[in-house]
Amino acid sequence: MDAEVFQSLKNLCQGVAPLAELFQSDPSRNQWLTVDACGIHADFSRQRINKSLYEALVHSVDIVDVQGSFRKMMAGDIMNVTEDRAVGHMALRAPAQSSPMAQQASGQLERGKALANAIRSGAVCGATGKQFATVINIGIGGSDLGPAMVTRALRTFANGPVVKFVSNIDAADLDEALHGAQPETTLFVVSSKTFTTLETMHNAERARRWVGASVPNWSQHFVAATSHAEAALNWGIQKDHCLEFFDWVGGRFSLSSVIGFPVMCAIGGDQFSEFLAGMSEMDHHVMNAPTASNFPVMHALIWWMNSALHSFSTVAVIPYSHDLARLPAYLQQLVMESNGKSVGVDGRSLLGGSSPVVWGEAGTNGQHAFFQMLHQGTQIVPVEFVTTGASLGSDDEAHDLLFANVIAQSEALAAGRTHSEPHKVFEGNRPSSVLVLDELSPRSLGSLIAMYEHSTAIQGWLMGVNSFDQWGVELGKILAVNAATSIASGALQDEQTMTHPLLNWYISIRKKLSRNQ
Ligand code: F6P
Repeated sequence: MDAEVFQSLKNLCQGVAPLAELFQSDPSRNQWLTVDACGIHADFSRQRINKSLYEALVHSVDIVDVQGSFRKMMAGDIMNVTEDRAVGHMALRAPAQSSPMAQQASGQLERGKALANAIRSGAVCGATGKQFATVINIGIGGSDLGPAMVTRALRTFANGPVVKFVSNIDAADLDEALHGAQPETTLFVVSSKTFTTLETMHNAERARRWVGASVPNWSQHFVAATSHAEAALNWGIQKDHCLEFFDWVGGRFSLSSVIGFPVMCAIGGDQFSEFLAGMSEMDHHVMNAPTASNFPVMHALIWWMNSALHSFSTVAVIPYSHDLARLPAYLQQLVMESNGKSVGVDGRSLLGGSSPVVWGEAGTNGQHAFFQMLHQGTQIVPVEFVTTGASLGSDDEAHDLLFANVIAQSEALAAGRTHSEPHKVFEGNRPSSVLVLDELSPRSLGSLIAMYEHSTAIQGWLMGVNSFDQWGVELGKILAVNAATSIASGALQDEQTMTHPLLNWYISIRKKLSRNQ
């Protein structure tokens, strides 16, 4: 997008009347700012946007050729230019016959589902013949956040082994997962696209020692989900336990690949297929719905408008669904690792800044923690409420109260309240959206996740960034290896110049403080 178009959008933003006036002057607002697609009702009417700004934003989608970019993605074009890779996550849930990429993906997903079903039925069991009761996924970032979020969200569909997730290099994480687990009945899934990630490989080696100490053939207790099959096989994974995905699937976009294997273990292959069907339905919607009523496009325009044009630097995603509690953590990687960049694809500085800070916590708990600031603080934080129409719990009255709280919070943020005492004033005009899934099912959750994937990509195209690389995580990884070498040898590496005193201090105290000496 050129500077002139960007400036004209910014000017239009500044001319938007307060929400109360917008609702008075345009009673049809609810219609053109609401969309129903793939089992989700989305209400964007309490966003700071008027008709002329919306039309200009919709036009900007055509300027950056969003539909064309999705078509290129499907065709396998190199969309991730700084890593010279295609971006194929939509092919993972497309019909197998639709492209060579889809064909490749489908073969591996079928293998994953068959293996998961065999583990669930006991046809594949541990080395001593006992059925697996616990599955522990070891992975981090995209190899953890997506499957962990979905496994929790689909808790009520789980009817297989207990599925746990370990990501942190802090030993406490694996310690906690191993508590109560038995080596003979525990299966580990080493999930790592690269099969080199420090945290994952360290934890996997410890898990291998733990199993190997009690069970003769430890490899019967390990599955890998990776795009580096050779590394997994060299590590000792059995060929029939090595599930593959591909370099054209980015880590944070890999949930619909065999990275979803722990989810398959929890809910079974058929329900995982339902999840993929929901994603595919949203893929079809984003590629075919008219721009002005296209759910991911509308969502992306609102998020981009708030961060780039209104300069609201954060967005709070608040799931009013206990089971969706991990959604904010999942979105943090999806959105911020994708779009947290300073330069565009052309290497030049961005016009409107990069990704907003995404954060959040389940409602109603958040109301009793940080909502004070959302209502009366000096920073404006757009809020996205995500909830369900149907209750999944055992108490419909509680669900009505939950939904009532969504309504109350969104109303209070938008309408505010006048009062003679200044500390009781709510200034209002604070933007929020409400996304309501008909019910929290594998299918609707798949659609929601695909919507967020597409919105993230569209925001990236509007910003002009490559949403599919993550060079910003490299430096820390290199410096961590250097620091670890310094700690192990006691000889400081030059790279840590500003942190030498802290590193020296740690080297001097670690032996004294360790519980393991
Ligand atoms: O943090 C960087 C990153 O490369 C993420 O993009 C990725 O999801 C995560 O590390 C884990 O990587 P891997 O799946 O290769 O272990």
